[in-house]
Amino acid sequence: MIRTFFIETVGCQMNVLDSELVASALTDAGYKPAPELKKADIVLFNTCSVRKHAEDKIYSALGRLKHVKTHRPNAVIGVIGCMAQQEQRKIFQRAPHVDLIIGPGRLGDLLSALERIEIEQPTADLRTPFMAVSDNRRGGKHETIKASFAPYNPDRKIETSEAPFQAMVRIMYGCNEFCSYCVVPFARGPEQSRPADDIVEEVRRLVDHGCLEVTLLGQTVNGYADPTSNGSFGLPELLARLNDINGIQRIRFVTNHPRRFSDSLMEAVRDLEHVAPYLHIPAQSGSDRMLKRMNRRYTSAQYRDMLDRIRDVVPEAAVTSDFIVGFSGETEEEFQETVELVRYGRFKNSFIFKYSEREGTKAAELYDDDVPYPVKQRRNNELLAVQDEVSLASNQSFVGKRVAVLVTGPSKIASRNIGDGEYAETIQLTGRTSCDRIVVFDGPLSWTGQIIDVEIDKASTLTLFGRRVSKKSAA
Ligand code: 5AD
Ligand code: SF4
Repeated sequence: MIRTFFIETVGCQMNVLDSELVASALTDAGYKPAPELKKADIVLFNTCSVRKHAEDKIYSALGRLKHVKTHRPNAVIGVIGCMAQQEQRKIFQRAPHVDLIIGPGRLGDLLSALERIEIEQPTADLRTPFMAVSDNRRGGKHETIKASFAPYNPDRKIETSEAPFQAMVRIMYGCNEFCSYCVVPFARGPEQSRPADDIVEEVRRLVDHGCLEVTLLGQTVNGYADPTSNGSFGLPELLARLNDINGIQRIRFVTNHPRRFSDSLMEAVRDLEHVAPYLHIPAQSGSDRMLKRMNRRYTSAQYRDMLDRIRDVVPEAAVTSDFIVGFSGETEEEFQETVELVRYGRFKNSFIFKYSEREGTKAAELYDDDVPYPVKQRRNNELLAVQDEVSLASNQSFVGKRVAVLVTGPSKIASRNIGDGEYAETIQLTGRTSCDRIVVFDGPLSWTGQIIDVEIDKASTLTLFGRRVSKKSAA
């Protein structure tokens, strides 16, 4: 009997959500989660292809999975996620103990594939490799390609989710931007927005089960367009409907594309009580020549102008960004333009990546990956140091202020010497402000899942430290 499963997940929030949905669908079909990988009948690896480093790590992890088959020869090993779509049969070649490869656009085929294995190929000697992937995005009819990337949306088991006070909800699939360096449009297919009614219904169910905070997910989330309306119902309209759901406390949305960040979206963030002032809007570079090569379709000045408008309309907004350093041909001056943008942007934080050339992308086809690795590394560190300064200054502005914190759980449990050989245990809790700042404070575990007021005493680059204050004394 093939009955227990274990899912290992790497990569972005989309993958985390896919794993949650797969786990939910498997549980619904009678499978049970295994306490650890070694004890599972089915091991699924949910993978990421965005950078080569991630892929290399997954290949070595897959190599190590071979030992699973020495203990449990009939175990099923599956690869899902972006690497499944990108690498396809190459995975079988490099990791022959893999039984099944399923791309993100074909996750709906997973259950039937497992059923078939259980019935027809229960033992390893009967196994034949199974693969379900979507069509190649280059060439072929748009409608056919789109149909091959089927939205995966099984009924999620909200009752059994681990942290019911927080949830991710996908509002759109895929990406049409084709930034020249990026594999996502190939791995996750064309943009497809979910109908607003379905999203509202899902969020309502989540809130009915105690969810306080939802994070709406989309690769270009601000490009959301309800497919049942004629282009008039976008993200601002969706936020307004979600904001009205009784009991919802916080609504976030990631990831935004700067080119589509409209004034009406800024106004929605300003005006809707429960929409969190947290805006992740990757800039990628401060150099116009790099932005052009990256096919980002905005200039550094346009990005700054967008930031200025955000500061005018929603001054309290925490803006965060992604940057790629060492993209093809990036000169020292061009890199310095990125440094300047980080200073100008006053980002709450930025994710900084060294350019990694990906097969099949336009950048790999057109441009050399010609910035030497040590230079990428140095630029990465330099930009990180600047961002750290900016983050610290931005966090320090919170000292002495009170913030509402959604308590997510323990940070660490420390033993403190209180004299006479006695030790007291203090539990440090951690949580997030609505603008996604990490806050650490003392308190009992029972506060987990509540929104409480904390006064901030101290700030570091990544964390605010404080203590709980009662609502009444809050300013
Ligand atoms: N190399 C380095 N970073 C990349 N990203 C996407 N593709 C690549 C690549 N080929 C980064 C971008 C994106 C984030 C999710 O990953 O900054 O915003
Ligand atoms: Fe990749 Fe650009 Fe799409 Fe983001 S917007 S997923 S970086 S192609």
